[in-house]
Amino acid sequence: MKFFVDTADVAEIEELAVTGLLDGVTTNPSLVAKAGRPFLDVVREICALVDGPVSAEVTATDGATMLAEGRKLAALAPNVCVKVPLTWDGLKTCRQLRRENILVNVTLCFTPLQALLAAKAGATFISPFVGRLDDIAHDGMALIGDICDIYAQYPALETEVLVASIRHPVHLLEAAKLGAGVATLPPSVLKQLVKHPLTDRGLEGFLADWAKTGQSIL
Ligand code: G3P
Repeated sequence: MKFFVDTADVAEIEELAVTGLLDGVTTNPSLVAKAGRPFLDVVREICALVDGPVSAEVTATDGATMLAEGRKLAALAPNVCVKVPLTWDGLKTCRQLRRENILVNVTLCFTPLQALLAAKAGATFISPFVGRLDDIAHDGMALIGDICDIYAQYPALETEVLVASIRHPVHLLEAAKLGAGVATLPPSVLKQLVKHPLTDRGLEGFLADWAKTGQSIL
């Protein structure tokens, strides 16, 4: 499973990139606004920090302008993945950008049939928003299961499921069990994954016993 981080905070990405566990980055207009810096600069800097796909979202809603924006974003770095919304204009733009060998992440997906449309449009990634469905008492993980089941029926479809809008580690656990190819995690959730009190307590115990030996490895 590929781990992407969902942020436009360059410092946070830099901190996580050194772990070697970051397979990509996703941003969106809200995350860029939160970062408070020029969008194109942020994209260039993120693309220099990670080798994997970096999703940068268009902000136009009409196909012609989406295409122009997508081409401009793609020209910033070879690992830019243009993000388009799941609308007819977004799907048309996806199709054309893929013809130009530009990576595309189709975002704001909330139904399995939207995901099927994105796959037919040749999307590199589909981003179903689990958390936002859970937020309104729907079952976000059921959407992931349905998409994975449908995609599995058609091996010719090459779109990877990029589980998005993740709120906590259990979302990641369930997505991994369903076989989703990618998850994009808020930095806080990614950092949580390594933590367990028994790990901490066990390490303390090992080191306390080791100290009693009076030895050192180096
Ligand atoms: O960036 C796409 C998605 O992960 C954002 O989801 O619900 O946290 O805004 P959300």
